[in-house]
Order: sequence, then structure tokens, then C-alpha cells
Amino acid sequence: MTVSAETELQIDAARLWKSLMDLAAIGATPLGGVRRITLTDADRQGRDRVVEWFKAAGLEVRVDPIGNIFGRRAGLDASRPPVVAGSHLDSQPSGGKFDGAYGVLAGLEVVRTLNDAGIRTQAPIEVAAWTNEEGSRFTPVMMGSGAFAGAFSLEHALSRTDIDGKSVGAELARIGYAGSAPLGTPIGAYFEAHIEQGPILEETGNAIGIVIGALGQRWFDVTVTGMNAHAGPTPMNLRQDALLAASRLVGEVNRIALAQAPHGRGTVGFMQVAPNSRNVIPGEVRFSVDFRHPEDAGLRVMEESLREACGRVEREGRVKTLVEEVVYFPPCRFDAACVAAVRAGAQAAGHSSLEIVSGAGHDAVYVAGVAPAAMIFIPCKDGISHNEIEDAKPEHLAAGCNVLLHAMLSRAGPAGHEA
Ligand code: GLV
Ligand code: MN
Ligand code: MN
Repeated sequence: MTVSAETELQIDAARLWKSLMDLAAIGATPLGGVRRITLTDADRQGRDRVVEWFKAAGLEVRVDPIGNIFGRRAGLDASRPPVVAGSHLDSQPSGGKFDGAYGVLAGLEVVRTLNDAGIRTQAPIEVAAWTNEEGSRFTPVMMGSGAFAGAFSLEHALSRTDIDGKSVGAELARIGYAGSAPLGTPIGAYFEAHIEQGPILEETGNAIGIVIGALGQRWFDVTVTGMNAHAGPTPMNLRQDALLAASRLVGEVNRIALAQAPHGRGTVGFMQVAPNSRNVIPGEVRFSVDFRHPEDAGLRVMEESLREACGRVEREGRVKTLVEEVVYFPPCRFDAACVAAVRAGAQAAGHSSLEIVSGAGHDAVYVAGVAPAAMIFIPCKDGISHNEIEDAKPEHLAAGCNVLLHAMLSRAGPAGHEA
């Protein structure tokens, strides 16, 4: 096939949209989103559906011990590592239908397009669905790609538990996705298509975000210990109220992020109050802290400020605090050649584009530690994500998928028609 014929190759936008909508029916929520929390029955159903589609597209499917699914399309040169497209199928508890699903189904659409056109590539092509990207039920976030890339051990990941004490390992086995394929196999190049999850592309009127990197993140579990006591007889000055202290710390997290404006981020999104009874002064509170920053030094300052704030709250609130780091990855810069392949793909397809830094974590960030990687963003409505009302336009989804197709082809080697 000639180079010009290759650039004219287009994915099937209607087929991509239909796959996204069919998958979104699994775990569908009233406001048009999805609830496919990792390693639940809904996650299993989503995985089963996608595996069926992989097989129907002729992909050879394998599952590794952390439940990552790979579908492989053979290349002409079996000795070359695959060019991989991927993302995740799990969602937030009240998530949207494009976050993650788009990257996997865009990869599948690339394969279907190559099949229809009878195009063989030199390197194999793979589509990956990584386990527990969201990190909502089990920490660490981006667990499947992190274990794949060796950011933490498989044993560490499998032993993590949810708030009911169920472990990743047991839940993977229960849903039938504790695989035995080797973990961490070589990747020649990795591309992840994703909705932006922020407002920049929409505001600037660009169809494609050429993602050059991502913010670093530090996540902590904070435990505040006070003392359970009766809400009536206990005078205000004698209380050791863990929730009052924790709520002061929530304000501190916000202040710490604002001090790192404009790119620092600080969020408390999870909290458990014990004993959680109306007329008991709370004796213990556990909550999450999610810090993000474009520079490692900024992340360190944020951590130090949190620890200082805990010290102040301990003294003033007559409580104890424990701060444990549960996620860390430094700011990431994607591979220059892969970023160039995305840029060239956008140019070839005639789409307006903008270089952008991801505020969200993505599997590509961990994969970038072991293979050349880059990402393709497309706009989403009002920049809203991690919300059921998350939305994206069919033409933007198609544009990102066409860029993915051309970026993958450029890295998978000169294409040829099937004999
Ligand atoms: C992943 O969804 C993240 O928290 O950035
Ligand atoms: Mn995602
Ligand atoms: Mn997400």
C-alpha cells in the first residue's frame, strides 16, 4: 500500500460510536453514565463483551495475572514488539461512558479498520484493557499498568483490599480474570486515546490534544484519631473530635493546592467516619488526599505542608494523625517520537490540534516508564468527567481514532496488503 493510500485510510465512525454505546449499556446509570467499578460483576460483563469483540476481530486474547487483557493482531515480523493502543474499562462509581472505554474501543476500531482494508503491519498490533485504572475501589490507581511496568509488585497489587476487606486477588479470581499470561511483556510503542476531562480543547476550538506529559501525583491515606464520647454531656472544651480535626485538614488541603496555583491540585474525595453515629463525637476519621503538580519539587512542598498542617491540628485539636503515602508517580513527559507520530497523524487527518499536559493520571503514564508512549486527547463537553453527564461528540471521537490509526501505522512499520 502506498503512503498516500495509507493517509486516506479512515476508521468507521458509526461503528466506533455503536461499540461505545453498546458497552455503555453495561452498568448504565439514570443520567446517561456508567457504574462499572473495578472487579465487580459489571466490570466482568464489560470485559466479557470486549473480549467477544476482540475475538470476533480475529485478535488472540491473553490475560495477565493482574487481569490486564491484551488482544493481539499478528505482524509480518513476529520478532518485533507490538504497537499497542489501550486504556481501561472500569469506571468511577458515577462515571461517564467515554473515560477509558474510548481508548480501548478506539484501539479495537483501528484493528477492525485494518482488517476491512486487508492491511498487514510489520510489527504486531495489540489492544490493551488495563485493570483498575480508576483507583476508586482499590488503591493504587492505574493498578494494572503500574504492576505491568513494575512500579510496584504484583503481590502488593493483589493484596490490596476494598472497604469491605475483599482483596484484588480474590475479586480477580471471582470474576474469572486472574490470568496466567506473562506480566510486563515488551511494547514497541504505546498510544492511548482519551477524552481530555478538562476544558482546554473545547475552549480553544481544537479537535485534538497532542499530550506531551502528565502531572505528577502523590496520594495519602490520613487517619485522625480522637476519642468517642457522648454528644450531650461532653463539654465543648473537653472533646477530642476527629471529624472536626479532619474537616480542618480538608480546608488545609485546599489551601495547600491554592498556594501552588495555577497548576497545583488538592482533593479530599473519600472519608470514613467512625462510629458514624449522630450522637457520638467521632473518635476516628480516615480520608484520602490527592495532590497533583507539574513538578516533583511542588509535590514535595505539598506533602511537607500537609504534614505541618497535621502537626498543628494535632496540637490544637487534641487528636493524633497518621499520614501514609499510597500513590506516587513523578510528572511524566511522553516520548518525543511518539508525540511526533500523534502530531503527524493530526496533521495528516487535517485536524486542528494543541499541545497539552494531562491533569489526570492515565495508564500511559506507567507504560511510559517501560516503553515509548504518548496520548491523544479529544474534547469533552464543558470539560466534565468523573460524572455521569460526561459527553463527547461522535466527530471528535472519530477524529481521535483516526489520529490513533495513523500514529499506530507509522510505528508499526510499512504496511502491506494481504496477499
Ligand atoms: C484517574 O482517573 C485520575 O485520578 O487521574
Ligand atoms: Mn481514564
Ligand atoms: Mn477516570
